[in-house]
Amino acid sequence: MRAEKAKYIYAKNSAFQKAGIELTLEFINEEIASKLEVTKLLSNSKVFKIADLGCSIGPNTFLAVQSIIDAVKLKSKSEGLNPESVEFQVLFNDVVSNDFNTLFKSLPERQYFAAAVPRTFYGLLFPEGSLHLVHASYTLQFLSEIPKEILDKNSPAWNGGRIHYSKKEVREAYSAQYAKDMNLFLSARAKEIIPGGFLAALIPIPHVGDGPSHVDAFESCFIDMAIEGLLEEDKVDDFNLPVYSPSEDEFKAIIERNGHFTIERTEKTYREVIPDASKPSVKRFADQTRSGFEGLLKEHFGVGNEVMDELFDRYAEKLIEFGTLSGSHKSFVDFFVLLKRKVQS
Ligand SMILES: C[S@@+](CC[C@H](N)C(=O)[O-])C[C@H]1O[C@@H](n2cnc3c(N)ncnc32)[C@H](O)[C@@H]1O
Repeated sequence: MRAEKAKYIYAKNSAFQKAGIELTLEFINEEIASKLEVTKLLSNSKVFKIADLGCSIGPNTFLAVQSIIDAVKLKSKSEGLNPESVEFQVLFNDVVSNDFNTLFKSLPERQYFAAAVPRTFYGLLFPEGSLHLVHASYTLQFLSEIPKEILDKNSPAWNGGRIHYSKKEVREAYSAQYAKDMNLFLSARAKEIIPGGFLAALIPIPHVGDGPSHVDAFESCFIDMAIEGLLEEDKVDDFNLPVYSPSEDEFKAIIERNGHFTIERTEKTYREVIPDASKPSVKRFADQTRSGFEGLLKEHFGVGNEVMDELFDRYAEKLIEFGTLSGSHKSFVDFFVLLKRKVQS
């Protein structure tokens, strides 16, 4: 019988993603120990290749990669291989605008060969059959593009004045775009991952709890700033966050329809922010959002740092006003899946 692992953490918002990743590394390591056939995977090479997709600038990527390498070494030993004979290559992927210099400057003392692969993961990134394990945490919520119908004033899915999905037609358009993107993602990975290889993904799924979410707080800043003339109203109408959180069933159905992978393990994990509505804590949360969206926002609105400072100062205030990080509606839920590339499909 499998030991029950902790599926719940209570963390400061500054260490929120790290804590979520740590929870799921245990699941990955267990699956490596019980199901990854290292000897078979390395029958034609002694280099075990890992890719971390949407790696950002660290440090979470280093934590994940090192834990996976340690688990693969242990497994190779248990299969009778000399772990010293296995070499590791780690391929760090993100979009071209990612700051790979910062990532490589902070690369820890390591036991692997490292390389960067800057390009969107919604297409082929690596040669066919060249990877043994792919990891992707908190990155598959990003859409490749905004669904076109929500930008069309004549469509029932037009999302003018909002920046995310609330009404049914908009949600359906986001969901259809997500299904299309994930199918592209899975089909590309199916080419790259050798049969028997693993794909581990950790995605945020819809927010639980009462009351407004942090996205609601963010949206209200755009509306206020458009009313006050600080942002152009037409541009607010056309701006939509390119992120979507699928439900657990929706995500599983996409994997099954794609057909190239078996689902070996799923887990639902919970992160809860330690209530801390102090200004520095809330500012940190707002800054994390800023680092994810600033480039996109500046380009869309054609504005500079001053407007961004105003937007994110307001966002921090709204997070306090809405009680998003301090009330009873502060839980975040993640969904973890461990997939295995089918031998034939
Ligand atoms: C929230 S960060 C997560 C970073 C890291 N994986 C972690 O768990 O801490 C999301 C990252 O995904 C990257 N990303 C978003 N869309 C992407 C795409 N289409 N291809 C590659 N990377 C992408 C972003 O640039 C960003 O660095």
